[in-house]
Amino acid sequence: MRAIVTDGFGGPEVLQLAEVPDPVAGPGEVVIAVLASGVNRADLLQRQGHYPPPDGASDIIGLEVAGHIHSIGSGVEGWQVGEPCVALLAGGGYAELVAVPAGQVVRPPEGVDLVTAAGVIEVAATVASNLTRVSLAPGETFLVHGGTGGIGTFAIQYAAALGARVFATAGTADKLALCRDLGAEAAFDYHDDWLGALLGATAARGADVILDVMGAAYLDSNIDALADDGRLVVIGLQGGRKGTLDLSKLLAKRGLVTATSLRGRPLEQKAAICVEVQRTVWPMFSAGRIKPAWETRFPAGSVRAAHEHLASGDAVGKLVLTWS
Ligand SMILES: NC(=O)c1ccc[n+]([C@@H]2O[C@H](COP(=O)([O-])OP(=O)(O)OC[C@H]3O[C@@H](n4cnc5c(N)ncnc54)[C@H](OP(=O)(O)O)[C@@H]3O)[C@@H](O)[C@H]2O)c1
Repeated sequence: MRAIVTDGFGGPEVLQLAEVPDPVAGPGEVVIAVLASGVNRADLLQRQGHYPPPDGASDIIGLEVAGHIHSIGSGVEGWQVGEPCVALLAGGGYAELVAVPAGQVVRPPEGVDLVTAAGVIEVAATVASNLTRVSLAPGETFLVHGGTGGIGTFAIQYAAALGARVFATAGTADKLALCRDLGAEAAFDYHDDWLGALLGATAARGADVILDVMGAAYLDSNIDALADDGRLVVIGLQGGRKGTLDLSKLLAKRGLVTATSLRGRPLEQKAAICVEVQRTVWPMFSAGRIKPAWETRFPAGSVRAAHEHLASGDAVGKLVLTWS
């Protein structure tokens, strides 16, 4: 098969299209013939050598795909060769074939083009599992940082569909407008005083739930932005790993801070998350309550351009690589 392999760690130039051996479906696995591969910010980190695959995962980059069942390993039930599917991966997605535990493979959401669906499951699984973890409830106030990224475009729509009052941050006037188009009540430029703007919009109350992709750089402001009994869930570390947490502020608010990473979760947790996504999120797509975010498609051979585009900060929504 053809796959994108890496020649050492570094910039986009280390990515190369190459012939590699086909994967084989082990017990409990299926092999998927990949139509499209989702591109995620974590892929840039893996390419640079900062995000190694978990033990046993493929060295090939790629955390999600859409395609058709190509072969089925022993002990797998419920799938036929040729059926369309999407899959959440620990690695191996930038390839024409990928082997994956069957628990992480689900049918695509109805009404969503299969290439587009390649960019849906990673954000859906991440956002839905984390907002369940912090019990976002209808009527609560929700803030997501980076409202037009892959995570943000989904999170705004999903939280709005749950009945939350949604706010977002973004970096340009165009992106702020996109956040509002997606369902945010208001969006705040993160170059300005987004915390003051949020407090102004919520009668100084703040957000019940914050989904954060910035990590250390926003830790203190995020605590200030929490409402009483608020919950902060950190999923990205774009602003660094180590921050100072003022526990006195946290205890005064009875606040909760938590953090998760989807990729390294045990197989049974990932399988349970996929079941929940199919049960609770896919119907929102079918009903038109969530639309796939804008996606930019690149032929797999142009993977370097795809990584450059994501790194540029100009991307909105998702990027996918297509295989012909
Ligand atoms: N823990 C997990 O399981 C998990 C799963 C998926 C993703 N993630 C992480 O979540 C993060 C976002 O992923 P993604 O797919 O959405 O990436 P993405 O599509 O590249 O989006 C990155 C987002 O970060 C925003 N951003 C950059 N600087 C910011 C700042 N100073 N303040 C507020 N927002 C800022 C960008 O906003 P502008 O475009 O407006 O500048 C953009 O919306 C990444 O760090 C990724 O690794 C974690």
